[in-house]
Amino acid sequence: MQTSFFRKFPLFADLDDRELAAIAAVAKSRRYAKDDVVFYADESGDIFCLIREGQVKVTMISPEGKEIILKLLGPGDFFGEMALLDDEPRSATVVATEPLELVTIWRNDFLQILAENFTLTKKVLAELSRRLRSASSRIESLATMDVYGRLARFFLDLARDQGKVLDNGYIAVTRPTHQAMANMIGTSRETVSRLIHDLMRQNLLISEGKTVYLKKTAIEQFKEEAT
Ligand code: CMP
Repeated sequence: MQTSFFRKFPLFADLDDRELAAIAAVAKSRRYAKDDVVFYADESGDIFCLIREGQVKVTMISPEGKEIILKLLGPGDFFGEMALLDDEPRSATVVATEPLELVTIWRNDFLQILAENFTLTKKVLAELSRRLRSASSRIESLATMDVYGRLARFFLDLARDQGKVLDNGYIAVTRPTHQAMANMIGTSRETVSRLIHDLMRQNLLISEGKTVYLKKTAIEQFKEEAT
């Protein structure tokens, strides 16, 4: 793989050609079909993964068999760093939700790259910090909010992370399936569908396929609901 290929990943954007060449020499490409499991929670872990194309869900299965989605990750995101850093088993199961192409790096190569590039190490630590903040916010919302508040916070996070402000003032976001949203906020698919229909009836949002258009008034209402 060429060095220019690696520069497109935000994680590697600041590296010079020599550093990128060192990464290119040890990285491999792997493809998965939709619904393939990349790895299971509790397995031992040997590879660090970067998403070139597609999406994965990071999940945990409760003892009753219920799926909890911790995070959806897409192009440019990475996963699989935790087991390599703390020498513990994988902390979660990772499943392809779309056809997936990964760039993978073996444990020892990954640890060596971190040891040689503090800028890159800081980016990995910054992402771990973001994920910890997000997990803390999830714990807070699960412990203190009703399901409407949790859905409101979900939409606010989505708007902040990937919302596009349109000329008409609406904010466009791409939403996961109702089932995936339910598994992220700890409720049923039926409840998510009912709440979204209520919000549409109140004219706060428009849902067209996978795109949701949030009105400014919805954002204001969600902020009140989710704080
Ligand atoms: P690892 O434990 O090696 O394997 C599972 C991966 O899922 C983990 O590394 C992280 O990359 C990722 N992961 C685990 N928990 C979360 C979370 N709460 N948010 C985002 N990603 C996570």
